[in-house]
Formats: sequence, structure tokens, C-alpha cells
Amino acid sequence: MSVLAKEQEEAFMKKLIAGNWKMNGDIDEARTLIADIVNGLYAREELLDTCKFLVCPPLLHIASVRHALVGYPKISIGGQDCSESENGAHTGDVSASMLLDAGCTYVIVGHSERRTDHKESDSQVKAKAQQALANDLKPIICVGETLEQREAGDALSVVEAQLKGSLPDEGQWGEIIIAYEPVWAIGTGKVASLDDIAEMHAHIRAIVGARVRILYGGSMKPDNAKEILAVANVDGGLIGGASLKAVDFIGIGRAA
Ligand code: PGA
Repeated sequence: MSVLAKEQEEAFMKKLIAGNWKMNGDIDEARTLIADIVNGLYAREELLDTCKFLVCPPLLHIASVRHALVGYPKISIGGQDCSESENGAHTGDVSASMLLDAGCTYVIVGHSERRTDHKESDSQVKAKAQQALANDLKPIICVGETLEQREAGDALSVVEAQLKGSLPDEGQWGEIIIAYEPVWAIGTGKVASLDDIAEMHAHIRAIVGARVRILYGGSMKPDNAKEILAVANVDGGLIGGASLKAVDFIGIGRAA
């Protein structure tokens, strides 16, 4: 095994299991969900030693979740987006430094829902990732092809172009994470085949190198997580729907 491959294997022995709660739930539901996750995970501490767990609640619920996590440092908090600007006149936006101040250590940038709903471009996603790094947050940079792009045989080139446009300038990488999420697999119950996941993750690995964690996202559930997380170069999962139920979220950790 090469030195780099060995470094990578050691660094990512713990899979990252990241829950993206999206725009779901009120404050009481967020409190119940995080309490159930804490109780479930801290009752099986071996899980906390074999995986890293991250929850990304809606912005307004971050304070409640942080409060519930006092004394439970093995579960991290992340934002779902941050501004590409440092601060100032940007009504409705939230800066990376505010997320840090609120207790976040990670932030998702360039999720396909933001790329679609808010027309975010690769260069904006790159600026967001750079803001995150400048503020000591680990950006989870999302990429993924649409069904039409996959059917046209363009999945690898589309993702490569997205990555090249969205990655921070080299030399400023710090700790970045890539999430490969085929758009057609998000929230649909359809999952990419293991061969397609392996091919795409190997392709991404060749671009980002050994030291960058690569997550898979798209309809990951307890019953498919084991085989997906066992694919080479899959260093964890970004989980939407199944992260809203503590048993499913923890079940994915157990599968890992
Ligand atoms: P899903 O969402 O697990 O509901 O498919 C994944 C994501 O969008 O991060």
C-alpha cells in the first residue's frame, strides 16, 4: 500500500455520518430528535468511537441543538449553507463566522437544492467554501449530476467540472469534505448502483487526492448503508430523510 493510501485509510477509518435536516421540524421536534440521537448514541458508546456524527439542523434550531449537546462533545453541529460574504448588507444571509459563533464546526455548501432553488453557481459555492475555511469551519462541498446528464453519459465530466469550479484554491484547502450526491437520488428512494458510486468516488479521489474525505448522499437508509459505506473511497454519508428519525440515523452508524 502506498504511503498516501495508508494515510487516507488511517484518517478515514472513522466514517462521517452527517444528517442534513433540511427545512424540517419546529423547535420542539428538533429538541426531541437531538435528545433521541444523544440517548441512542451515548447508550452505545462504541458507535461514537467507530464513526463521527454530525447534525445540520435548520438555522433557527441550531441554538437549541447546541444547548442539548452540552456535555456530548462527540456529536458535531453544522450549518446547511453560509454566505459567500464576510459580513454586511446581505439581508437574510448568515455568515460563516456566525455559524462558528453558534457552535458549528462544519457547513454544507453547494447542496443541489441550493444550486437549483437559489441558482448558486460553482464560483459562489467556491466563495462559500473559502469563507467557511477562513472561519475555521469544515465545508462539505456538494456535487452531483442530474438524471439527464447521467443518461447522456456525462456524469463523470459534469461532476469533475463542478468540483473544479467549486473547490477552494489549492493551498487553502484545510479540511474540506466532498459530498457526491446524484441529484436524481436525493429524496427519491433511488440509489446509485454500487458500481456507479465506486466509479464516481474513484474519479473524485483522483481529483482531490488522498486527504479529502468523500461522502455519498442520496436516499441512504439503514438497509442500504452497509453496502454503500463499504465501497472504496466512500468515507461517510450525507443523509437527508433518514436523518430525521433517530433510529434510522443511528442505524446508519451501526451499519458503518
Ligand atoms: P436524502 O437527502 O437522504 O433524503 O436523499 C440527501 C441530501 O440531500 O443530503
